[in-house]
Order: sequence, then C-alpha cells, then structure tokens
Amino acid sequence: MNTYARLPVAFSHGQGAWLFDGAGKRYLDALSGIAVSTLGHNHPQLVETISRQAGRVLHTSNLYRIPLQEELAARLAALSGMDEVFFCNSGLEANEAAIKLARFYGHKKKGVELPSIIVMEHAFHGRSLATLSATASRKAQAGFEPLVPGFVRVPYGNMDAVRQIAARSRDVVAVMLEVLQGEGGVNTVSDEYLRDLRALCDVHGWLLIVDEVQCGTGRTGKWFAWQHAGVRPDIMTLAKGLASGVPIGACLTSGLAAGLFQPGNHGSTFGGNPLACAAALTTLDVITEEKLMDNAVRIGEAIRGGFRKALEGVAGVTEIRGRGLMIGIELDRPCGELVTRALDAGLLINVTSDNVVRLLPALIFSDSDAKTLVEGLAPLIREFLSQ
Ligand SMILES: Cc1ncc(COP(=O)(O)O)c(C=O)c1O
Repeated sequence: MNTYARLPVAFSHGQGAWLFDGAGKRYLDALSGIAVSTLGHNHPQLVETISRQAGRVLHTSNLYRIPLQEELAARLAALSGMDEVFFCNSGLEANEAAIKLARFYGHKKKGVELPSIIVMEHAFHGRSLATLSATASRKAQAGFEPLVPGFVRVPYGNMDAVRQIAARSRDVVAVMLEVLQGEGGVNTVSDEYLRDLRALCDVHGWLLIVDEVQCGTGRTGKWFAWQHAGVRPDIMTLAKGLASGVPIGACLTSGLAAGLFQPGNHGSTFGGNPLACAAALTTLDVITEEKLMDNAVRIGEAIRGGFRKALEGVAGVTEIRGRGLMIGIELDRPCGELVTRALDAGLLINVTSDNVVRLLPALIFSDSDAKTLVEGLAPLIREFLSQ
C-alpha cells in the first residue's frame, strides 16, 4: 500500500555507519533506520549470533519456555531495576500492552470504571487504534475516528497542567510520556519534571508509563533515558534499537504495575522468540563491551557542538538540542526538502514535525563520522536557509 513517501534509493549492504546503494555510492547513515540499528550495519558479533541462532531454532511460540527470553528478561530487569517483562515485536505493541495494563490496573486495583491516561502534546506512541489515540498528531489520526477514548492531553513538560487534572479528575490511572519526544520534534523535559511527575503519581496511585521506544537502549548515554532523572517508572516500553534491527518490543513493569497480567490477559505469537532475544542479548553485550553509551554521550556532544559552531549566527536556526545520539536542529520554517538534498550529498537524515532536522546515528558512530556529518550537512542547512 502507498503508506510511505519513499525516497528513490535502495541499499544493497551496509558497514558500520555506512550504507551502499546498488551502484556502489556510499551514504553516511545518521538515522540508523529511525533509531533501530544500534550497532550500525553488519556488526560481526550480531551477524554471528543471528546466524548461529538461525541454525538452532527460530521460533517455538510462547506455549513453551524460551530460555533466551528468560535470559533477556532477567538482563533487562537487572539493567532497569524493574520486575517483569512482556515481549512483543514493535513499539506500538509494547505501548498497547502498557495501555491495557494501565486500564487493567484501574479496574482491578482502583475500582475505576472508565480509566483514563494523561498523555502529552506532540507525543508519538504508534499507529494502532489505541496508540494512535495516545499520539498527539491530528494529521496521523484524521480519517480514523472514532478514536479510542480514555486519554487526556496536557502540554509536554508542564507540571501545572498535570496538577490541574489531578485536582478535578477521579478517573486518571496513569501518566504516559516519552522521556525525550522523537517524532514530535526531539523535545526534552527537565529531570526535575520527571521527578515531580513521579512524586505526583505516587501521591495519587497513578502509574508512570515511559515510552523509551526511541530514546531507550543506550541512545541518550544511559540504558534508559529516565535513569538520568534517578526515578523509576512503573511501566517502560522498549523496541526499535533493542535488537539492533531484528524486530522486538518489550513492556516492563515494576511497583504497582507488577503482577497484574495473568495467562489469557495478553499475548503475542512471535513476541520474545529465540532469534529476537538472542539478537537483543548480543546488542546489550556489545553496548557494554564497546562502551557505546559513553560513545553516545561524547559523539552526541561533538555533533551538537559541531553544528552550533558551524551554524552560529545563521538566521533561521532556532535551536540545536537533544541528549546523546538523539539530536534535533530546529529551523524557523518547514525543511523537508533537506532530506533529498542530504541524500544527494550521501547523507541519510530525517526531518520531523516539519521543521526539525532529526539525527539518530548508530551508537558506534565515530569521531570521523561525526565530522563528516557536520561538514556535509551544515553547509546544506546554511544554503537552504539563505534561499
Ligand atoms: C516513542 C515511540 N513510541 C512508539 C513508536 C512506535 O513504534 P513502532 O513503529 O515499532 O510500532 C515509535 C516509532 O517511531 C516511537 O518513536
């Protein structure tokens, strides 16, 4: 179906941070498949793991124990301090599980008949009916009404707006947010805001749900972006970069959200299959062994610093922001055409929210990759803004 406005290029193979088209032209991949290829392309350890696992067993279903799934669950629990994991295959599925859990919690533990969840302006949580309803984009929602009820929207980062709802609503059971918003324009909130949200959730017995689908798995310099704030959510969702390109999703719970689902309440045929779990375990191993979270911090700073210097005083650059390797360059006008200009120049980038250049490089991005990116893209931005 015509669901994507695709660029006229196809890649035959990749190596590290680079992709190659059929004609041998190489492209610096500063998007990593939208925050998916954590280890870059063709990482030898991941290739070895996937090949080995394919030669053993790919799929058995969740009707049986899956030792690799148990191992991955234990590893994620240890990294996050959370208690339980449900595995699925994508970000929206992980969020769907989180939304169902929050409603279940409302019914079972709080006696709320019609539970509602506070969600944020500019949020993106997926495109299933429930996650689309939690998503803030009217453009994405248009034509798919009736939306799923049970969401209340507040401005991102505005604690007063959440407090006002707390004062008047008895149906709220959870607050759901991205710790850094991706599709919504690489927007950030302060660590203090997250701590305040945690405290308010504790006062009211609400679940704090963090969507780490895009910002998780080491991208911001910690395993999970909420760890910068030193608070723990009740529910966390992961996907995208967790298995560095093999589809996987995960919904983790702790505290009030733990122990809710029983057999029959939720499920997934493919979720947590041996192949995906083996790839995720190797992704976590390599992030640790190659100190890729330190790299994400250092290279992220280098890229933001490089663009700040190269674009200093350029009219039309509103802000350069982000954390680790989640980077946004906001311009004062729609700039979608920069994507094709960059492609022609051998750079893979993205524009989101119409006017934010979004960069999500692999965690293996090197100093020289960062230099190539800044030196290649900054002149294109300058030229675009001077027209
Ligand atoms: C924060 C966030 N949540 C959820 C999703 C949905 O993930 P998926 O496309 O794997 O369903 C995305 C995808 O961009 C995302 O960025």
